[in-house]
Amino acid sequence: MKNIRPSMYKLHKQWLVKVTPKHRHSCSVSVPPTEDNKRPISSTEFKNKLATGPTFQDFIKNAPFKENATEVHEGRFEDTQSYLPDDPYIGNSRKVYFETYGCQMNVNDTEIAWSILQKKGYLRTSEPSQADVILLVTCSIREKAEQTIWNRLKHLTALKMRRSKVNAPLKIGILGCMAERLKTELLEREKLVDVLAGPDAYRDLPRLLALADGGQRASNVLLSLEETYADVMPVHHTPQGHSAYVSIMRGCDNMCSYCIVPFTRGRERSRPASSILEEIRILSDQGVKEVTLLGQNVNSYRDMSEEQFCGPEPVHLSRGFSTVYRARRGGLRFADLLDRVSQINPDMRVRFTSPHPKDFPDEVLQLIQERGNICKQIHLPAQSGSSRVLQAMRRGYTREAYLDLVANIRKIIPGVSLSSDFITGFCGETEEDHQQTLSLLREVRYNVGFLFAYSMRKKTHAFHRLQDDVPAEVKQRRLEELTTVFRGEAAKLNASLIGSTQLILVEGVSKRSAQELCGRNDGNLKVIFPDTHTVPIRPGDYVLVKITWASSQSLRGHVLSHTSLSSVGNTPSQAYQGEQLAVR
Ligand code: SAH
Ligand code: SF4
Ligand code: F3S
Repeated sequence: MKNIRPSMYKLHKQWLVKVTPKHRHSCSVSVPPTEDNKRPISSTEFKNKLATGPTFQDFIKNAPFKENATEVHEGRFEDTQSYLPDDPYIGNSRKVYFETYGCQMNVNDTEIAWSILQKKGYLRTSEPSQADVILLVTCSIREKAEQTIWNRLKHLTALKMRRSKVNAPLKIGILGCMAERLKTELLEREKLVDVLAGPDAYRDLPRLLALADGGQRASNVLLSLEETYADVMPVHHTPQGHSAYVSIMRGCDNMCSYCIVPFTRGRERSRPASSILEEIRILSDQGVKEVTLLGQNVNSYRDMSEEQFCGPEPVHLSRGFSTVYRARRGGLRFADLLDRVSQINPDMRVRFTSPHPKDFPDEVLQLIQERGNICKQIHLPAQSGSSRVLQAMRRGYTREAYLDLVANIRKIIPGVSLSSDFITGFCGETEEDHQQTLSLLREVRYNVGFLFAYSMRKKTHAFHRLQDDVPAEVKQRRLEELTTVFRGEAAKLNASLIGSTQLILVEGVSKRSAQELCGRNDGNLKVIFPDTHTVPIRPGDYVLVKITWASSQSLRGHVLSHTSLSSVGNTPSQAYQGEQLAVR
């Protein structure tokens, strides 16, 4: 009864009728006189007539209403729920289970898709066995990523068949990049998949699921030039809830010759800054302590809806860099956005990924250096150390330009942590090219590396024009060599942190031992330390940890004290040497 009141009030406003029980009686029947109704009517008969006559809803059925509005707009009270039960796309408390693969963009997309479904009355479950709908948010970046999904689909279709035997229907949906890449081919190959939705089609999910519920197989893989889901507040769902990914743009215009992303995610577009800032303010109010701004090429961010032009445009790219598309001019740039984001909460860490080496302005570097809460950590994907291969990859820079950029970054942000992506065995890569990549790894010394064997993707420039001529075992051997060199360099870098004090954002109990806690330092490196239980340490706390042990992948140490980010600042990992910090 409670939630029907606003509807009644709305009716009153629209029809200028005060809806009371009295009015309801008086307006409920308009029956021509018959023999039967000429005689006086008893109160029981009246009640019976009333029960079988038109209802309150019959009167308002054709009245316009705004679905799921939540607030008072222009003095009109809007309903908080649809009071008509005939929304064809309603979820009816059906339970959805999400499984996410691929990059951080997919983590954020899962939150967007969930936000859309939650508004339609779906529930979320973390148990596939409890689910009415299973949605896989997929990745197509390499053949192996897709193979993982095909294997998973085998299990899920078997589950679906078992469930249909016990009359507990299960719907399966493929979302994201693989849906976009394979389109109907996927539906043809996997007969038990019910729904396909590409990265720009998540708003359509309730309709697609409703069609699937009616027994149809439904698909929407249209790419958009504008969709940024700016008005959809993602429901962040990280286990500890203290870190969140925030998409600032979608798509990619770079067309690196090996990469499928421009084909699966479409043209590059930036989400309006106002929507990004609002989301981060909400996250900050909810106690989130770290945001990572996401995009395939964050430093080409441009909010063209912002009139404001905050600084001089770079006249052209620095020496050794080139681009395949014309940079946008005017609007709000990445440096401006980062500046605004970092001012929201001085106790909230800010990271971003990935910037492209080819448009990395000094302004962004200076801002990182100046602001205490922007992490001194940069992911700078190199892909190869050979200028010849970089050219074939259409990366838009040479080895020398990349190394100049690294030197510039280190000059402006001393002690910065660097990470990178590399591909081994790209088309035409010789042993000499490979040696150059190894030497780049040694020269730059990354803290973290993501290394991949090249996987040819249909539709890409490399697929049409180049030969995938490096044998699989050579790609694999080169990958192992890269891994060995990377680990050796990272181990040396991390060992130099022994004896230093690091500022750690606590994530929770360590996976390996319930007696230990884990968190991350400014450089995004995992740090493990015993839970002393003397002072309670909770996820989302900042603590100072003295480092006593290091490997290529993690650090260990012991807690010195609680602290806050604003009192210490995100000083680069390498700078906390010895006991020089004032420890409270
Ligand atoms: N936009 C990001 C990359 C996203 S894809 C950037 O430019 O940094 C993540 C990484 O996957 C890439 O950096 C690249 O190293 C790797 N990758 C992309 N396509 C690949 C392919 N066809 N084979 C192997 N690795 C690939
Ligand atoms: Fe792919 Fe290159 Fe775009 Fe990154 S920048 S997503 S590697 S095309
Ligand atoms: Fe994969 Fe798509 Fe991300 S292909 S890496 S999920 S953008």
